[in-house]
Amino acid sequence: MFAKRIACIGAGYIGGPTMAVIAMKCPEYKVNVVDVNEARIKAWQTDDLPIYEPGLLETVKAARGRNLFFSTDIKSAIRESEIIFVSVNTPTKTFGEGAGKAADLQYWEKVAREILQESTASKIVVEKSTLPVKTAQTMENILNANNRGIHFEVVSNPEFLAEGTAINDLLEPDRILIGAQETPEGQKACQEIVDIYEHWVPRERILTTNVWSSELSKLVSNAFLAQRISSINSISALCERTDAGIDEVSRVVGADSRIGHRFLNASVGFGGSCFRKDILNLVYICESYGLHEVAKYWDAVLDMNDYQEKRFVRAMVRAMFNTIVGKRIALFGFAFKANTGDTRETPALYVSRMLLEEQAKIVITDPKALENAKIDLADVLDKVEMTEDPYQAAAGAHCVAIITEWDCYRTLDWEKIYQSMEKPAFIFDGRNILDHRRLFEIGFNLYPIGRPAMKHF
Ligand code: NAD
Ligand code: UGA
Repeated sequence: MFAKRIACIGAGYIGGPTMAVIAMKCPEYKVNVVDVNEARIKAWQTDDLPIYEPGLLETVKAARGRNLFFSTDIKSAIRESEIIFVSVNTPTKTFGEGAGKAADLQYWEKVAREILQESTASKIVVEKSTLPVKTAQTMENILNANNRGIHFEVVSNPEFLAEGTAINDLLEPDRILIGAQETPEGQKACQEIVDIYEHWVPRERILTTNVWSSELSKLVSNAFLAQRISSINSISALCERTDAGIDEVSRVVGADSRIGHRFLNASVGFGGSCFRKDILNLVYICESYGLHEVAKYWDAVLDMNDYQEKRFVRAMVRAMFNTIVGKRIALFGFAFKANTGDTRETPALYVSRMLLEEQAKIVITDPKALENAKIDLADVLDKVEMTEDPYQAAAGAHCVAIITEWDCYRTLDWEKIYQSMEKPAFIFDGRNILDHRRLFEIGFNLYPIGRPAMKHF
């Protein structure tokens, strides 16, 4: 018999890993993860999990079949659980009012209505998805519009894990955030969620706030992180013109303990499913409250990211004698960051499409993301080659562009790669992960981010 039953609706990048850790750390709770996507649920039941994340399989295996279950039976999971986490996707709206900016809450609302329909007793509903501030209010209005005497308490518990380090982030979070209403029922619900996390997270790292601060803090945290990347990327453009080095500037700036070192790596641009979507959402919310200057300020973080991606491709074309028509270009990495197969909003997609517009021949290599790359580029697959082998990708290419900071690219036999390429051979290091001096000595023409190019002509 279990002390408590928890359901999680949405078995994606968040629902799966988060619930696996909760189940592993709380063996006395039954954790039921449900989803409408049958293929995804089937994969969670095997050792071939639907997402790649270091340490995830071991974590799932520690609890699966004991107190962790994956199923498509959403109705039963709702009925039998006292606590329901909702971690469905909340993408940017593509239609109607707010298209291109507002969050599309159709999946969330559908789940709320399903919870309402299936429930025969009061429950706590936990917002795990990232949602616009004030969503909990709408959810409570929908959920509590029943005449069955059932009460739903909506609690906000946003997730801060990053892909590629999800399990570690879940096991040792900087903070857990729980937002609840300041009523006795709200505070009781809050304590129930605190109880879950207290199994492994020290109490002082569990922050409790009101619901609205919690919802908003999630959007603001992502906006601040993205802002740091756009800030350093903006300075990388200046470095390339002034003989300053972005790594040195970043080291100096980050050494100020008030600023700190993390998230100051200049890059081809940030990707991932959330930074863009959450900032667009923040901008939309500001605009809807008439705060146009605030909206403009945060929008600029996205403008800078677009500029950085565009700048990267423009530099490639300019360096390769202003034309790349018919030239073979090897993209090293397609995932939006290392250690994940996720390609949502990856800069690689934008770069690929721009290169194809310039009529280059592109060949993509990535250790984990080629399946997703095939889906993302389905409309142009006849023009794109893909291989898991970076040596094969580079053979006969005019240039290699590093798009994802996979560790394996640092230790390749670059001498061998140089021999196999067209000359002059170029490297565009969109992540500054390679040993540029050594590669220059091998014979490559080097174009780092935020540092002057090293050319043989
Ligand atoms: P995802 O697309 O990987 O997973 C969402 C899942 O919800 C899908 O499997 C989908 O089939 C399922 N779903 C949708 N509607 C459903 C319904 N009515 N009933 C049952 N299942 C349904 O998305 P994700 O990356 O896990 O993100 C989920 C939320 O978490 C988003 O709001 C996102 O902003 C937030 N978030 C994501 C990350 C991340 O790193 N990916 C980090 C923090 C927060
Ligand atoms: C990000 C946040 O870090 C998480 O806290 C948050 O929970 C999550 O978004 C979310 O809400 O979805 P994630 O997108 O998985 O996590 O990965 P990050 O490590 O933040 O990287 C995002 C992008 O920024 C990647 O493309 C990465 O390569 C890029 N980046 C990161 C840089 O270009 N420079 C840096 O210094 C750091």
